[in-house]
Amino acid sequence: MGDNLTESVSSPSFTQPRSILVIGGGPAGLVTLRNLIERSNDKFEQVELVERRDDVGGVWYQDEPTISSVNPSGAINKPQWPSPAYPGLIGNVLPRFLAFSEYPFPESPDHLHQPFPTVEETYEYLRGFAERYIEKGVVRLNTEVMRVEEIPERKGWKVRIRDWGVCDDNDGMPEEREERWDAVVVCAGYYDKPNWPNTEGLDLVRKRGLALHAKWWNGPEGYEGKKTIIIGNANSSNDIASQLAPVAQTPVYRSIRRPPAPWFPSLSDSRIKNVGAVKKYILQPAEETEEGMMLEKMTVVLQDGTEIKDVDVVILGTGYCPNPEFVHVLPHENEKESTVSLMSYTNPILPQLRRIPFLHRHILYAYNPSLAFIGAILAMTPFIVADVASTWLTLAWLGEVPYPQTIDGRLAFDRERIMQVEKMLEVPLPAATTDANADPPPSSFITYAFLGPGDTGTNESGKGGEAEYANGLRDDIVSARPDLDAVLPTWDAEAIKARTEMYPTKYEALKWAQMHCV
Ligand SMILES: Cc1cc2nc3c(=O)[nH]c(=O)nc-3n(C[C@H](O)[C@H](O)[C@H](O)COP(=O)(O)OP(=O)(O)OC[C@H]3O[C@@H](n4cnc5c(N)ncnc54)[C@H](O)[C@@H]3O)c2cc1C
Ligand SMILES: NC(=O)c1ccc[n+]([C@@H]2O[C@H](COP(=O)([O-])OP(=O)(O)OC[C@H]3O[C@@H](n4cnc5c(N)ncnc54)[C@H](OP(=O)(O)O)[C@@H]3O)[C@@H](O)[C@H]2O)c1
Repeated sequence: MGDNLTESVSSPSFTQPRSILVIGGGPAGLVTLRNLIERSNDKFEQVELVERRDDVGGVWYQDEPTISSVNPSGAINKPQWPSPAYPGLIGNVLPRFLAFSEYPFPESPDHLHQPFPTVEETYEYLRGFAERYIEKGVVRLNTEVMRVEEIPERKGWKVRIRDWGVCDDNDGMPEEREERWDAVVVCAGYYDKPNWPNTEGLDLVRKRGLALHAKWWNGPEGYEGKKTIIIGNANSSNDIASQLAPVAQTPVYRSIRRPPAPWFPSLSDSRIKNVGAVKKYILQPAEETEEGMMLEKMTVVLQDGTEIKDVDVVILGTGYCPNPEFVHVLPHENEKESTVSLMSYTNPILPQLRRIPFLHRHILYAYNPSLAFIGAILAMTPFIVADVASTWLTLAWLGEVPYPQTIDGRLAFDRERIMQVEKMLEVPLPAATTDANADPPPSSFITYAFLGPGDTGTNESGKGGEAEYANGLRDDIVSARPDLDAVLPTWDAEAIKARTEMYPTKYEALKWAQMHCV
């Protein structure tokens, strides 16, 4: 990763990089690493992956939480980056859509009641896939990227690394250093930064420990008899509500703004009561318990004025925001100024336009295509989309698939996508189910980053959908490398049908789990 390698990108137009750093060891990072190495036929001199946790797998690696603390010498212990997955999570994607090309997913073993791999099985698959690269020494674990900074004149990227692996031999202290890379691929995932709604009173109840985001949900233990309200009706919120129902005080309230999308199967459960959107949270005065402890509760006021009193905890299944805050780029107006955070260019006002900005085809940073992102979008089948996207990136960096050679040309994709979202926002939105008086804000799924289920363009919703996007990348790849046609996943009518049928299958799996109290 030496400085000497960066000279290869000395001209303002970006050519083939010699050294490439992949950030993040989840599914997207792992398949990107494989494709950059294997599908380039080793044409890049150095390709490495760094992962801040002590193992690969991303969302699918559930480590044992330990308490992070300050040790007696004052040194900081390694922080925890817990996975947002939780015990009892049943996958919602079939193995065929989790299988990276040329690396089949093993047949699902024992759970005949449902075909979705468990968190552990998916982790095992990813670990097996990564093994070869870990042994080769191109995966560095316990290595956190603190900052990625663009070097002027397209001379690559400075990467500030914090090596947590040395802590044991270094008085609990990590080691910091700077590396230089010709090109960087950010695969840091989508589920790191929770989306906290801007609801009145939420900050206060959160500070008092009465509000929790789904990211930290770890099962219903500890919620026995508690009065709870869950916000949202997508996968996390539905799972959390049904995990709480047998344990917590009933009804478990679930606050929803509109009917659920068909790809969020949810069981009816008489113990779960759907209510409308929340207007505000009010902290109630603390009361002394029989044990002599002071206990705080809250009142949750709904948009229609209904008050739910004495609530112990609100759990927000309100989704996540993309957040690679460590990426700093040269200002577009004046490249001589010091760098600015890439995320400072996003639209903070309209959440629907919140995005990793200026990406050509959700991959290449338009102003300097030696920076790329894989996994910056929300897909129905994230594993195989990342496989195709990173194959495309590999061939783009080798000069085998074309992409626009001007900044303006590369920005066209981003502009068109913003226009698509703005157009979608003009469409009348379905009313909230339980609160007819409220005017629901646009769904968080009408958003820049959500590719949606869309098919191959046979209807309006297909535009900008996952199949159209992935097939576009696939077509480019196959034009350059016809041999990959037989290898890459497809988004044809049969595959789309199979993907759509996953949701009723998931519904059946949830029913089985409910009946068997899993
Ligand atoms: C609760 C939950 C359930 C899900 N269920 C499914 C499902 O059933 N099926 C499905 O297909 N998808 C599911 N998903 C989507 C899931 O995110 C994708 O399957 C997949 O994990 C995305 O891979 P990724 O590599 O982009 O991100 P991640 O899996 O999030 O991996 C990102 C990695 O980057 C690392 N990283 C981040 N920042 C840094 C840094 N600064 N330095 C070094 N490393 C860094 C992280 O530690 C992490 O290991 C689920 C997501 C969640 C949150
Ligand atoms: N394998 C599984 O079964 C499983 C389980 C959990 C999670 N996941 C995956 O994990 C990812 C994240 O899922 P997620 O469920 O955490 O988040 P999500 O898919 O982004 O859903 C967020 C939910 O919160 C609602 N919401 C957002 N802001 C709100 C607000 N201010 N007030 C009320 N409701 C609000 C949304 O409804 P609106 O439409 O009204 O905005 C939506 O119902 C997804 O990829 C999901 O598929 C999978």
